[in-house]
Amino acid sequence: MCGIVGYLGTKDAMPILLEGLKRLEYRGYDSAGMATISDGLNLTKAVGKIVILEKELKRRSLAGSIGIAHTRWATHGEPTIINAHPHVDCEGVIAIAHNGIIENYRTLRTLLKREGHNFKTETDTEVIAHLIEKYHEDASLEDAVQKALAQLKGAYGIVVISTKESRKMVAARNGSPLVVGVLDKEFFIASDASAILPYTRDVIYLNDGEMVILNSHSYRTTTLDNKDINKEVEKITWDLEMIEKSGYPHFMLKEIIEQPQSIKNTLRGHIQPDGIEVKMNCLQNGFPKAMPKISAIKLLACGTSWNAGLVGSFMMEKILRIPATCEQASEFRYRWPVIQPHTLSIGISQSGETADTKGALELAKKLGSYNLGIVNVVGSSIARLVEGGLYLHAGPEIGVASTKAFSCQVVALSILNLGLARYLDKVQPLENKEPRVTDKDFKRISNELIVLPDKVQQVLDAVYDKDSGQGIIQQIAKEFKGINNFLYLGRGYNYPIALEGALKLKEISYIHAEGYSASEMKHGPIALIDKNMPVVIIAPHDSEEPISYDKIVSNAEEVRARGGRIIAVVNNGDDVISKMAEWVIEIPNTLAHLVPVLATIPLQLLAYEIAIMRGLDPDKPRNLAKSVTVE
Ligand code: G6P
Repeated sequence: MCGIVGYLGTKDAMPILLEGLKRLEYRGYDSAGMATISDGLNLTKAVGKIVILEKELKRRSLAGSIGIAHTRWATHGEPTIINAHPHVDCEGVIAIAHNGIIENYRTLRTLLKREGHNFKTETDTEVIAHLIEKYHEDASLEDAVQKALAQLKGAYGIVVISTKESRKMVAARNGSPLVVGVLDKEFFIASDASAILPYTRDVIYLNDGEMVILNSHSYRTTTLDNKDINKEVEKITWDLEMIEKSGYPHFMLKEIIEQPQSIKNTLRGHIQPDGIEVKMNCLQNGFPKAMPKISAIKLLACGTSWNAGLVGSFMMEKILRIPATCEQASEFRYRWPVIQPHTLSIGISQSGETADTKGALELAKKLGSYNLGIVNVVGSSIARLVEGGLYLHAGPEIGVASTKAFSCQVVALSILNLGLARYLDKVQPLENKEPRVTDKDFKRISNELIVLPDKVQQVLDAVYDKDSGQGIIQQIAKEFKGINNFLYLGRGYNYPIALEGALKLKEISYIHAEGYSASEMKHGPIALIDKNMPVVIIAPHDSEEPISYDKIVSNAEEVRARGGRIIAVVNNGDDVISKMAEWVIEIPNTLAHLVPVLATIPLQLLAYEIAIMRGLDPDKPRNLAKSVTVE
């Protein structure tokens, strides 16, 4: 995600801030900027890599021994120079760098505009600069920051400077990490310690609801309502590489483990408090006149995103009662597809740069489709190409094999599905006039989405033990690490999980793995089953879904009868398939269309552990690229 660096001391701030930004590069970003104070406020920003900012800074060096800097990962507004941080107020007195998302920024922006504030960017952050400006007229910087923060809803880590108090820096945290580095007459602030480590190992970690006020010679820590607090100065014992990966040995593991938070970020702001509406810009004003109804839905994607799209097509067809199909973008664009009038196409892509997905969307558009996107990287090519859509806000995904993007894509598809159901009920009611989702069902789905991050955490806690290495996943990996073939089976919503589980295993452990629909097993893969074949049977179920548990039980019987070694993924307390399995992975109950989120996590971990045990680097699998921008 975004990165923050701040410096207040006796040396030139610019090289220290620049070095700090470089150390935060691994987090992923699309633009960067820096502000210092000398005679007045000096500001430089650039789109793209830090070296571009560095070149700018060579042209016009920023003077001053106090300054803040930021790497931005766009969430509100495209990655442009204007949208890059730091952001300033109307008069260029205050500069602020912010990580996180301000949920009520639209309301605040409208109010502040009415009061005469002049907004220059599309960001949520700019409202904080103007709010602080408003209160800073007759209050100290820290008082103004406190008053401003009291009005914000959402998550933030901020650092602020002001030319009115040019030897002061204020930083505050609510949901986005901040650490303060302490030296004799120098202070550092950063969103993670890697930016500070070259200078000091003595740090103060701010907790949510806390702020720090730094002066030339001293610092003060308080709560956001101005009560002094004593914070312990701690010693960093980690090395740089460990910090970048938050202590995890690989980005892939970090990204698997952080899924509860990523899903929260995807959900943020969409589900309305009544639980019977979802909010999203792309549906707010309806589709254009040329698209008076939706006759068909095409989901277009590649790789893991395609597996998520398959889940999406199942849930959309079920609820919306409109034909919904998920196509591999690479195939779609090179056949002669028919796009019926009033087709809605939805491109799904983590990177937003996959050439085939982009090409398929362009073709769909040419054939008359109206296009939406579900994308993680803000301002990416696909995000710009489509008419609207949803961002995942999952944060940068650095491990080549996609993990957290998958769960967030399924969640985003579920939100979009609810939104489309409400929208279609207005413009295109069903023949029998029944709502596509009743309020009761809507509430059930939104409640389940809200508790999903906790359930993901329960799965992680139950199946994987990072410290002892004795979790069920680690035990299964130990048992099967030497095997050369794997079969993954599932039906209904569990079929895309089988595909995704197999994809993860082959991507990073180079084991041949097939994902198959359990119902098709008898048409071929059953011939593969013998006593050497591990078969992962994905069988969690939702009693309200037509997919019959009994049928997968029969498939499990067939596997067992041929000596196959069953690894079952089942609901907590399952007592049928569990009894047939050699290994049992239990997950909490959830709605059928959300099972892919919970059930895929153990399979991601299984692939990861097997890769590690085979001595492979899961972050950089051979022959694969994170973003395939060529055909
Ligand atoms: C590559 C990556 C996969 C990813 C696929 C689609 O093959 O290695 O992990 O699923 O591209 O990427 P996208 O960015 O469009 O989701």
